[in-house]
Amino acid sequence: MIVRGWEYLAEYEAEKDEIHAAIQEVLNSGSLILGNKVKEFENKYAAYCEVKHGVGVDNGTNAIFLALKALGIGDGDEVITVSNTAVPTVSAIVSCGAIPVFVDIEETSFLMDTTKIETAITPKTKCILPVHLFGQCVDMDEINRIAKQYHLKVLEDCAQSHGALYKNHQAGSLSDIAATSFYPTKILGTYGDAGMVLTKDSELYHRLLRLRVYGMEETYNAVEHGYNCRLDEIHAAILLKKLNHIKDYIAKRRNLANQYHELLSDTSLQLPVEMSYGKHSYYLYVVRHPQRDLILEELRKRDIFLNIHYAYPIHTMQAYTYLGYKQNDLPVTEKISKELFSLPLYPSLTEEKQHYIVDAIREVMALHHL
Ligand SMILES: Cc1ncc(COP(=O)(O)O)c(C=O)c1O
Repeated sequence: MIVRGWEYLAEYEAEKDEIHAAIQEVLNSGSLILGNKVKEFENKYAAYCEVKHGVGVDNGTNAIFLALKALGIGDGDEVITVSNTAVPTVSAIVSCGAIPVFVDIEETSFLMDTTKIETAITPKTKCILPVHLFGQCVDMDEINRIAKQYHLKVLEDCAQSHGALYKNHQAGSLSDIAATSFYPTKILGTYGDAGMVLTKDSELYHRLLRLRVYGMEETYNAVEHGYNCRLDEIHAAILLKKLNHIKDYIAKRRNLANQYHELLSDTSLQLPVEMSYGKHSYYLYVVRHPQRDLILEELRKRDIFLNIHYAYPIHTMQAYTYLGYKQNDLPVTEKISKELFSLPLYPSLTEEKQHYIVDAIREVMALHHL
């Protein structure tokens, strides 16, 4: 059996008929871009996230970029975020002309360490950008408290946290503005690229609508400099169908996570911890072990190919050396990046495959006395 970190064909097979019908409906409708399906999906997904407005965009990176633009963040402004995230969190900040400022993460949750934020604030700081990583929310009360005290904006990166809860509220509803991605691997993912900006603020909403289409409010008349970040009707139609299944996707993910917990809790792997303030939606099941590289190498020999989220902290990447970070500036992030790896977790993962993975891990760990 070959195991990969993520597969979609079984889920596609199960949903094929409704997906094809949704695409067919769009193609027959005469409307391909920013039509009724986009509007309906924006309304439904915003309602799911407990916010008033959603603006569908072409991907999650541009959702962050437009959110920052709508907040008025630009040249030389500082945005506080984490280095243990996907590259797009940071590339969107840099694309705005702003400067990413990294704070370290916590050892247990792998999320932004909120105790490190205040010392990172300077007169140039405009925004805190917490990333609800791996399916779990950052401690937002603390972030909102700091933001209020220092008059900062908060932008949630929700690309990995569809359906995650913080104190019974949805990720994306916990700040001024939020950005998400519907990239295929995501909890709610399409068969291509898509994203959304979410906000309760009507002024930000209207600005986002303009920024998404060349800065225009009426056809061929730009009010401000804008971009092309449109979501198309086909992806909106697919996402509307998939949104109907989101509860089921998350329930399956949580079941699989419980299974991993049960089957691996007596090993020396550090397993994910669900913070008491929220509900994890298990976008990823990320474990930690000091012998990570050895374990992965042994698993590859057994045709099990696992992913690492993330092997390279962003502040150490060649693209971002200009920011001037040195080794050991973010000790927890740096240490953890050498130890984390992700076990396959997606709704169509079969019990048989999950047991196969667990058995292989246990075998490898016994072999090397780990
Ligand atoms: C944390 C995080 N932020 C932003 C993004 C960007 O999303 P996209 O790939 O849709 O541009 C992703 C997904 O790759 C992500 O995981």
